[in-house]
Amino acid sequence: MRRGRTWIRVGMGVAVLLVLVGCGVPANPPVVAEPTWDRPQTRTLFFRACGDCHSNATVWPWYSRLPLVSALVVRDVQEGRQKLNVSEWGLREQETEDVAEVIRNGTMPPALYLPLHPQARLSAAEKEALIQGLERTFGAAGEGVGEYEAEESDDETDEGD
Ligand code: HEC
Repeated sequence: MRRGRTWIRVGMGVAVLLVLVGCGVPANPPVVAEPTWDRPQTRTLFFRACGDCHSNATVWPWYSRLPLVSALVVRDVQEGRQKLNVSEWGLREQETEDVAEVIRNGTMPPALYLPLHPQARLSAAEKEALIQGLERTFGAAGEGVGEYEAEESDDETDEGD
């Protein structure tokens, strides 16, 4: 039973530590306005893979409360939101030009983010669905889209409405 008690102590120690350092996460700003999503699936995929850093609906992971790590995570989210924030749509320009490219070449979501967020790992088909959906969603907003160059895609999924 000595062993069991040791683990309880360790567990309590960790809990206390987490409470003590649990102050490093800023409150999420309010969701002001979202783009008009072309279909629900696009929004779902976006929030699975991108929403933590590109919206105000960030789900802060436990490790974002650890010292040092906290600073890095908070900075990532702030930088991400600055470039593209689907919770502040229409308030300012958004950097959407490279959206297809960064998804396709695997720059986004960042590799470091994936091990602790397995739901953000998209299959090839999901990536294409997200790209096409964002193209329609951001294109429809007619904002910040720049001269977007659609890459050739052999399967146009146009079956929806
Ligand atoms: C862990 C946080 C994080 C996640 C998750 C994430 N991003 Fe990013 N994103 C960033 C940061 C930080 C930047 C700004 C720095 C940079 O460009 O690398 C950025 C920049 C961008 C840019 C602007 C690139 C440019 O400079 O033109 C686009 C577009 C983008 N992200 C799209 C996405 C998409 C789409 C997803 C989901 C598939 C995603 N991001 C997931 C953090 C994230």
